[in-house]
Amino acid sequence: MFTGCLSDNTLSKAEILKQKQDKEILGKVLYFDKNLSKNRTQSCATCHNPEAGFVDDRNNGVNSMASLGDNNTSIGDRSAPTASYAMFSPKFHYDIKKKKYIGGQFWDGREDDLEGQAGGPPLNPDEMGMKDKKEVSLRLQENSYYVESFKSIYGDDIWENDDLVYKAMTEVIAAFERTKEFAPFDSKYDRFLKGEYNLSALEDLGKAIFFSNNNNSCATCHVLKGEDKLGETFTNYEYHNIGTPANTRLRAKNGVSTIDGGLLNNPKVTDKKEKGKYKVPTLRNVAVTAPYMHNGVFKDLRTVVEFYDKYNNKDRKINPETNKPWEDPEVKETISLEELKSKRQSDRKIEALVAFMKILTDKKYEHLLIDSK
Ligand code: HEC
Ligand code: HEC
Repeated sequence: MFTGCLSDNTLSKAEILKQKQDKEILGKVLYFDKNLSKNRTQSCATCHNPEAGFVDDRNNGVNSMASLGDNNTSIGDRSAPTASYAMFSPKFHYDIKKKKYIGGQFWDGREDDLEGQAGGPPLNPDEMGMKDKKEVSLRLQENSYYVESFKSIYGDDIWENDDLVYKAMTEVIAAFERTKEFAPFDSKYDRFLKGEYNLSALEDLGKAIFFSNNNNSCATCHVLKGEDKLGETFTNYEYHNIGTPANTRLRAKNGVSTIDGGLLNNPKVTDKKEKGKYKVPTLRNVAVTAPYMHNGVFKDLRTVVEFYDKYNNKDRKINPETNKPWEDPEVKETISLEELKSKRQSDRKIEALVAFMKILTDKKYEHLLIDSK
């Protein structure tokens, strides 16, 4: 019988593989388990629904702009990002050459990796609301499958230490989040790269504009590997302020009145130059994960592209969702104005960029696309 020493090098390859699979399966069950929240009303899947691009598709009384907690009253101030492709964000670090912060989890990178991230929501009073690690451990012990699985993966004495139980829980949830279910790479764009899909004229134009640094700015921040490279995640994991306005409609409901400092909210960051910057999000599945930006301020993908164009096109003065001039940025001082410079875009080019982003949708979500071709 396996006795729990994970560095035991007598484990065969087959046993190591088996253990990896056991962790993934256990992590999947935990990901869907509402018993990890105080009132047993929500699981990770509630706010990162695998049927809906791994975001919170509930209305929550705020048109899905933010999430409602397990206490049924707390409305957050940030929108739940997709958990799909999150596994590719490198550990949070400062790149000395680039002089930039890179990677991590959350909009402000305050957790280094998926393990750290998974430990947040259960103990967050505004999310799953559990009191402490002991309470989580007791909930887990209600389930004999957990009791046995944790023992067989981590050793018979695991249940004697609440810290180790909690750590094991975050490790197996992260293992599940690293499975192909979260990153199938089977969108039309991926199928096009493998010769299995022909781009429409509009999608082809959108692709050309998207990847061209001469025509547009998108690739500066939303490309890691390059045009036509397999495994592109559509973010360079840097942090930027693109001038997103505060979401006043959301704040009228959640009562928040403080400025969101973005990256400056990360305890590892103290430089005021980082205020109002957010991690560049992946554009995979973006067409099925509205609303947009860290605070859900825009409903429509087209609005986002028009918003970028306002930096380069003096005719693009009006937010099409409010029919009023674009609202002021929440944080003005740190906007990446240099990186946002590009040629002005015609309506047709904007349509093309939207069409391109639609083909970044995983196959299982294609039915969710509105007027999909
Ligand atoms: C009440 C809703 C809610 C629940 C429950 C919840 N999350 Fe989240 N999740 C969020 C929000 C909101 C954010 C963004 C918060 C921020 O950036 O400050 C987030 C961020 C994340 C991210 C970061 C993605 C990225 O690109 O940075 C991952 C991964 C994630 N959650 C996974 C999980 C897992 C695993 C669980 C279960 C243990 C979970 N979430 C439970 C709402 C929720
Ligand atoms: C200077 C870097 C930068 C450039 C250039 C840039 N983006 Fe972004 N993009 C970001 C950041 C950072 C965010 C998140 C901002 C926030 O939440 O306030 C974002 C958000 C988005 C979103 C919303 C995603 C979501 O899940 O909410 C879309 C869509 C998007 N960008 C598309 C584009 C397109 C198309 C272009 C080119 C026209 C572009 N971006 C150019 C950095 C950039």
